[in-house]
Amino acid sequence: MKKLLLLVLALVMVFGAYTAAFAAAKKIGISMPTQSLERWNRDGQYLKAQFDAAGYETQLTYSDNKNDQQVNDIDNMISWGADLLIIAAIDGDGLNTAMNHAAEAGIPVIAYDRLIGNDAVTYYISFDNYTVGVLQGKFIEAALDLKNAKGKVFNIEFTAGDPADNNAGYFFRGGFDTLKPYLDSGVLKVISGQTEFQQVATAQWNTDTALARAQNILGSYYADGTILHAWLCNNDSTAAGVTQALESDYAGSNAVIVTGQDGDIANLANIVDGKQTMTVYKNVANEAVVTLEVAKALLNGKVNGEELAKSFSVECAYDTTSYFTSPGHYTPSFLLVPTVVTKDNLDYLVGTGLYIKGEDGYLKAK
Ligand code: GAL
Repeated sequence: MKKLLLLVLALVMVFGAYTAAFAAAKKIGISMPTQSLERWNRDGQYLKAQFDAAGYETQLTYSDNKNDQQVNDIDNMISWGADLLIIAAIDGDGLNTAMNHAAEAGIPVIAYDRLIGNDAVTYYISFDNYTVGVLQGKFIEAALDLKNAKGKVFNIEFTAGDPADNNAGYFFRGGFDTLKPYLDSGVLKVISGQTEFQQVATAQWNTDTALARAQNILGSYYADGTILHAWLCNNDSTAAGVTQALESDYAGSNAVIVTGQDGDIANLANIVDGKQTMTVYKNVANEAVVTLEVAKALLNGKVNGEELAKSFSVECAYDTTSYFTSPGHYTPSFLLVPTVVTKDNLDYLVGTGLYIKGEDGYLKAK
């Protein structure tokens, strides 16, 4: 009898180990848009590290900002046997063939940071993108003390992101809507007259494109000594172009308020040096941890969005009414909260564990 019990116990242990090993073999495909924009390198590495540490098998690709390559990368992950796809889209409307393949294969998809315009999206995990823009607008409102303008007029320009990036419109509208009352009252003026998203957008968030447009605006509208007070840039790679243009092509002696987003290393140095005024930081470590927990729940077949969002150690809202992949098809979303960083709170970034501060006061990626 004793021998039988020992045999049963041994079999249970072997089966249990096999089951655990089999469960750990779940495959996660992680598709990032490019390595040419700093933040995606951090996102990709952090996501892979989280899932590897949790015992999953992962594939991580970067598609060089080429939509066709990203479709191919995702299809390859489907052929590989991915159990879950995590995708930060280059073009939110350019992935339908791969997304339809995922749906046909019954593979859930997490749209990471950027929404994908296809109903095969299972969950959207990002930051509140409209709020990113609002934070930029409110920063300028406070820095210029627009509420107490008392007849003073301030000049501002705008630089938005990639029209193919679903986030870019939200960022722009958040900032523009925040400042619109001042534009309507005449307290704020856009001397270039460029106030429509398509006029101020920057393909692929490209720094050189933002630089060229800023140089053109400064040369055309500010060469006569007109003072520029602020330039609302929706992210750091475009802010890098604008700050270069201000250095080379702006004759004014005043420091122009320049906003950004992402906490890119070069931009943090510009913030220390006073060339950029703020960045909106989105903690990629938190975004990756939330993604891991949602993925685990998804793969275990039980996701209670409200409960899951409350269980996170970081602030995260579960939202089912803000984002949709097609008219009426709302996407359950987990939205984290962005943070304003200036030269006065750079230590907040050190506290995330993702940055270190050198003796020279400049931040470096950890
Ligand atoms: C957006 C992203 C931002 C911004 C941009 C550049 O979609 O949410 O962080 O940096 O892409 O990649």
